[in-house]
This record gives sequence, C-alpha cells and structure tokens, in this order.
Amino acid sequence: MRNKLIAANWKLNPTSRLEAVNLIEGIKTEIKKTSKNPRQEVVLCVPAIYLGLAQSALLGSEIKLGAQNSYLEEKGAFTGEISALMLAEFGVQYVVLGHSERRSLFGETDEMVSKKSQIALRNNLIPILCVGESLEQRENNLTDSVIISQITKSLENNKINGKNLVIAYEPVWAIGTGKTCSSEEANRVCGLIRAEVQKLYSEEIANQTLILYGGSVKASTIEEQMQKSDIDGALVGGASLVIEEFAQIILKSAK
Ligand code: PGA
Repeated sequence: MRNKLIAANWKLNPTSRLEAVNLIEGIKTEIKKTSKNPRQEVVLCVPAIYLGLAQSALLGSEIKLGAQNSYLEEKGAFTGEISALMLAEFGVQYVVLGHSERRSLFGETDEMVSKKSQIALRNNLIPILCVGESLEQRENNLTDSVIISQITKSLENNKINGKNLVIAYEPVWAIGTGKTCSSEEANRVCGLIRAEVQKLYSEEIANQTLILYGGSVKASTIEEQMQKSDIDGALVGGASLVIEEFAQIILKSAK
C-alpha cells in the first residue's frame, strides 16, 4: 500500500512574512485537530525566501518542507538561482520541478528538468516532477504522447528507487482555472504514467512511486480523486492558501 501525499504549492504567495507564518501556524493548528493517518504526508512548497522561517515554524511538526524550484548545477556563476545543496541545508525534503508555469513562462525544457532532478536526487531531495498537456494538445488527442514524452525525457539519467520521486499529473488547462479533470480521466493518465515508470525502471519501482493529481483541487473534489487506484495524492495551488480549505483537503484525503 502506498502512502498518501498532499503537497501545497504556494507559488508566488503570500506577499508578506506575517501572512506566511500565519498560514503555517493555521495549518499546523488545523492538522492537530484532525485524526492523524500515519500513511499520509503533508508538504508545504513555499517561496524560497520563506524557507528559513518555514523551517523554524515547522520544527517539531509532521509537516514537511518543500521548495518550488532548484537549479541544474550545485554552485557557481548562476546569478539568481538556488541550488539543491542549499535547499537541503534548510531542511527541505521535496522540490517541485518542471511545473507547467516554469515550462511555459521560464522556458524550462524536459532536458533541463532531467538535470535539475539529477542534482536534486544527489542531494537527497525528492523531486515532485510535474507533467501535463495543454488544452490544445488534449483537443488534438496528443495527451498520451505528450505525457509519455515528458516522463521519458524528464527522467533521463535519473536513478529512481520508488521512494525518491513523486510525479504530479497536472493538466495545464486545469491549473488555476477552476476546471478539474474528471477523476476517471485523471486516474487513467496517472495509470499511464505508472506504466511508463515500469517500462523505464521496474514494476516494483512503479508500484511504489507516488503519483499525484494537480489542477484546481478543492475540498469538494478530493475525496473522489483519492478513491482512484492510481491517484496517491494531490498538488494543490490556490486552495492551499486558504487554511480551512486546505485542512479539509488533508482531512478528506486521509480517509
Ligand atoms: P491550482 O494549482 O490548484 O491553483 O490549480 C495547482 C498547481 O499549479 O500546482
């Protein structure tokens, strides 16, 4: 049986240190009230500038710390970048890589994602590798080929053991739009991803790899999504910034 993982992707939010601390404290308080499922993990992927305060605020908590990006080199003349080596020192355990916003707005390619992921793995960070098709690709029946290609290229030269990688299926058209992919279709694509991981690695590794769904996840959608065989959790954007809503997502996915 695989663990369940709920990861918050705060993106470029919130805009003050005080709000960030309040958000973390609020989530901690809400989580304490809910019955704990030892097989469920919660990760907060916060903006890099909040990692230090989040590390302190999460001390002694079950909640894990995540970053939203890391560079494809460990150190050197790369102004403005952050390395996996530095993240590890701040107690970061997860890093979102290849998010569609990074791919479309910052020109990240599968090859870059693969290198970033290799460096993250070398520093014992667990990449949350994001893949997903655009609306145009879906309408042209390219979903499966796009996903398979992203998975294959983004994982090239990566040593995966089933415990050190999380994959998030995030259809681009469902991110921040309020449109959720049906849970049947999300599960089908997550199954396709698992089959691809099996081809690239092994059945054992594929069966252990956590695969999340992301794209307008809400408290009202999570229960149905979590009942699906190949969906092991969620990558949550907008709803993770609202304490009550995120707490409900955690609670409902723990069942
Ligand atoms: P959303 O974002 O939940 O706001 O759609 C998800 C994501 O981009 O990871």
